[in-house]
Amino acid sequence: MSRYGYCSRREVAQWLKRGRVTRAGEPVRSPNEKADPQDVLVDGEPVEFPNGLYVALNKPLGCTCSHKEAGELVYDLLPAQWLRRNPAVNTVGRLDKETSGLLLLTDDGAFEHAQTSPRRHVPKVYAFTTEQAVPPAAVEQFASGEFMLQGERTPCLPAELRLTGECAGRLTLHEGRYHQVRRMLAAVGAPVLTLERVEIGPLKLEDLNLAPGEWVAIDPAMFS
Ligand code: URA
Repeated sequence: MSRYGYCSRREVAQWLKRGRVTRAGEPVRSPNEKADPQDVLVDGEPVEFPNGLYVALNKPLGCTCSHKEAGELVYDLLPAQWLRRNPAVNTVGRLDKETSGLLLLTDDGAFEHAQTSPRRHVPKVYAFTTEQAVPPAAVEQFASGEFMLQGERTPCLPAELRLTGECAGRLTLHEGRYHQVRRMLAAVGAPVLTLERVEIGPLKLEDLNLAPGEWVAIDPAMFS
């Protein structure tokens, strides 16, 4: 019960006493009784995400991927019960406060680790607009595998830049360095104006039909 964020471990006995948990139509009365979360109803409803929580959120602008910073947090957009789950629900990597778009959240630490591991190279696509025109030479520079960012010891992995206008395009990254898209575009003289993540691996934001702030459950198997 506490694993799924219904109540604290101490409160479980009270919940059972009140008959709020049933299995095959019968109340489960003892906290010592083992029950498969898929077999029980709590207040008549199935347990949400009994095998782990995996969701895609369309992150709005202006909120932060952090549990404790001041201001609006991505976690404020989620049902309160999810935030009481144990293990905790976390974002899979981060987006900047002023970046919108596709963000995964999970309570599965192994999934989170696998998706953010630099060895996995899960492609992520960012749609951007810039203040100045992006020099067309950036396409080759970014693809070269030799593009160095200030303060970094190793060059960026080859990245695909597709320009859709003088000041707009899409950049596909296979790694996730700090503020990477903003830093790469600033380095070629085209500071970012707007930035949205539109794809993570097989998942495309446009296929999900999510308004900013909305989320949907996803199947983690699509990433394996
Ligand atoms: N690159 C950035 O600069 N910001 C993000 O939020 C993601 C990638």
